Amino acid sequence: MSLALRSSLRLAALRSQFRPSTISIARPVSFSPIRNMSVPTTMKAVVVEQTGGPEVLQYKTSYPVPTPKEGQLLIRNNISGVNYIDTYFRTGLYASPKPEILGREGAGTVVALGPNTSGFEIGDRVAWLATGGYAEYTAAPAEKTVKIPEGVSDEDIMASFLSGLTTLAFATETYAVQKGDWVLVHAAAGGAGFLLTQILKNIGAKVIGTAGGPEKCALVKSLGADVVIDYRSEEGKGWVKLVKEATGGRGVDVVYDSVGKDTWEGSLEAVKRKGTIIWFGNASGPVPPIALPKLSPKCVKIARPTLFGYIETREEFEFYTNKLFSMLQSGALKVKIHKVYPLEDIAQVHNDLEGRKTTGKPLLKP
Ligand SMILES: NC(=O)c1ccc[n+]([C@@H]2O[C@H](COP(=O)([O-])OP(=O)(O)OC[C@H]3O[C@@H](n4cnc5c(N)ncnc54)[C@H](OP(=O)(O)O)[C@@H]3O)[C@@H](O)[C@H]2O)c1
Repeated sequence: MSLALRSSLRLAALRSQFRPSTISIARPVSFSPIRNMSVPTTMKAVVVEQTGGPEVLQYKTSYPVPTPKEGQLLIRNNISGVNYIDTYFRTGLYASPKPEILGREGAGTVVALGPNTSGFEIGDRVAWLATGGYAEYTAAPAEKTVKIPEGVSDEDIMASFLSGLTTLAFATETYAVQKGDWVLVHAAAGGAGFLLTQILKNIGAKVIGTAGGPEKCALVKSLGADVVIDYRSEEGKGWVKLVKEATGGRGVDVVYDSVGKDTWEGSLEAVKRKGTIIWFGNASGPVPPIALPKLSPKCVKIARPTLFGYIETREEFEFYTNKLFSMLQSGALKVKIHKVYPLEDIAQVHNDLEGRKTTGKPLLKP
């Protein structure tokens, strides 16, 4: 958004405090502390009423715009991120109340303030983490919303927000990767993998990336990965052996495995004695319950983290968002947008993600 537009939005917000009649009010707010910009009563949104395949994603053109409640901001989304986790909520692998508007992140403009949202103004350009991104408007918690600094575009932040915060936290807190560590990253050309590979190379780790197909492998190589394995090729199907060879028979210090069902056993084999496995996703299906004695022979540590466990407090959230913003501003982290899809094409996005057709991050234009 241009500087001029931002300052005119700020002015409009200021004026609304003194001359409310000059601002277009979308719904009665007579005794409410909410101050509105011009907000329609209905919006375009994608709603899931029951779990299932991509066909359950229903595109609606006149869905009610949410009213921001206590601690919420109403945000007009300029762009939203699509993450693999959205497919878990769609299929029911992860439980969530339905009907639901999927989409865990968005970037756009604050258009109304709910009670107790100090620190934000109407017109602020922000990114948020919550639910409801497959829509023109989202009522997001101010606690999980952050102003986007100058020099970072809405697209850049959506290509790196949920996935970037996740991979930063997992590479520094779940296991603090050290310079010289051997690290195995599965699905290294995906939304999370593309960022994780760069973060690891910035730390000075030696990265072995797996990816499906020569195009994806070339992308991972371009990020500086030391070894790249096409785990869908004939040779690459024996990726455990290739990992062992690359590490002089020792195995890797840590595995980042978001593929799950198809790779978990190989990951357990590929990790070194006293190594760590971080299982953080289910792209091919969940890791089955495993018997703890399986970890004994090599004294392996396992972790099953989620991003939200690392950004629960405002302090933690700001710590990681500031880290991410500075990496984007300095160029230490590059983003890759697979494609920006119109909102009505959401089923196609899910098909492409689950069909392993994407590299980097798919975005949605509400
Ligand atoms: N725990 C957390 O807090 C957290 C946060 C963010 C993301 N995640 C997890 O991180 C993973 C990546 O998320 P993302 O949004 O960035 O997705 P993504 O990596 O862009 O897409 C998933 C990738 O997984 C690979 N894959 C392997 N087997 C697959 C299969 N049977 N079906 C589909 N894909 C398969 C594919 O890459 P290839 O073709 O190269 O194999 C595919 O492109 C997901 O598992 C997600 O749940 C977890």
